[in-house]
Amino acid sequence: MNKKPIILGIETSCDETAASIVTENEQGIPVILSNIISSQFELHKKFGGVVPELAARAHIDKIDWIVREAISKSGLKTEEIDAVASTAGPGLIVCLSIGLSFGKSFASTMNIPFIAVNHLEGHALSPRLQENLDYPYLLLLISGGHSQYLSVKQIGDYERLGTTIDDALGEAFDKTAKLLGIEFPGGPQIEVLAEKGDPNKYELPKPIFYKGGCNLSFAGLKTAILKVSKNIKNEQDKFDIAASFQKTIEDILYKKTKNAFIQFEKINKSKNKVFVVAGGVAANKKIRSMLINLCNQNDYKPIFPPINLCGDNAAMIALVGLEKFKIKKFNDLDYPAKPRWSLDENASFLKGAGVKY
Ligand code: KG4
Ligand code: ZN
Repeated sequence: MNKKPIILGIETSCDETAASIVTENEQGIPVILSNIISSQFELHKKFGGVVPELAARAHIDKIDWIVREAISKSGLKTEEIDAVASTAGPGLIVCLSIGLSFGKSFASTMNIPFIAVNHLEGHALSPRLQENLDYPYLLLLISGGHSQYLSVKQIGDYERLGTTIDDALGEAFDKTAKLLGIEFPGGPQIEVLAEKGDPNKYELPKPIFYKGGCNLSFAGLKTAILKVSKNIKNEQDKFDIAASFQKTIEDILYKKTKNAFIQFEKINKSKNKVFVVAGGVAANKKIRSMLINLCNQNDYKPIFPPINLCGDNAAMIALVGLEKFKIKKFNDLDYPAKPRWSLDENASFLKGAGVKY
């Protein structure tokens, strides 16, 4: 029986300090031995968003403990770890540097390989921590930092079909919440308020809605919400704004996901119609049920990984590390942090919009 690789994953790209130990079973299916996450919601909530320097200091304070905890919960000894994988980008440079330096020092001290991981590759492969998925599949990643449609063709082979040209979707939820006087991160609260509101009360803009393809844009919505929020007179007005905002997002995602299905089928000529939705906004029940209905109408199998695996976590980073370890794709200890790092090298300029991403 071959010894299976044991990988320590470390994630500090934004406001989660996370470490995880992942291996695989005899059938080659990934197994999570531990998955520790410490969120910084409390730290940033009074500022209405993540403050990079505060986030970095919290990573410094916690990283050592989080890694020890991940090793201890795995039931293994430190010497049994075969490689360390750290997120190297994209993300906040001051935050990335903490997990990256820690991972490099750990690898150097233990004399084991170091692997630099693209955070987006972690999200792209994360559903494979839960079930054995065939390639290719279509991924919609909607989080506080990213909004994109990706065709996941193989490990290491990704094609970005669409991306936001301005704000991420979670960011749009949080900015709307802030205008309604809700603390960061306000996305989950918007969902609660929307339940009591009239989704047709306000007609809000749907930027680039009628453009083909599946690029997204949410910045114009914030300006519109700013305008209507000046006339808030009572709680019901807030409920109506939240409901109208959420309905507008549903309409945008409905149209753009339909376009993404067409693009995905065109490039993959595939009968494997699988649609994975990851990232914090995937927790929104209205968005979820709209996307599930859309999948049913178009013969797609919808997959929503559990929230601890589709939000930021280190198990997905360790998983990418595991795959790279198996093909001996290691990195040098001078590997830099990359605050901007597209998964699809051919998509580094957004066609037509002139936006570097
Ligand atoms: O993927 P995630 O957990 O972390 C990062 O982006 O790093 O996503 C967090 C984002 C936040 O913007 C939060 O407001 C949003 O996901 N979010 C939601 C909901 N739950 C979390 N947005 C809308 N509805 C929700 N139920
Ligand atoms: Zn993420």
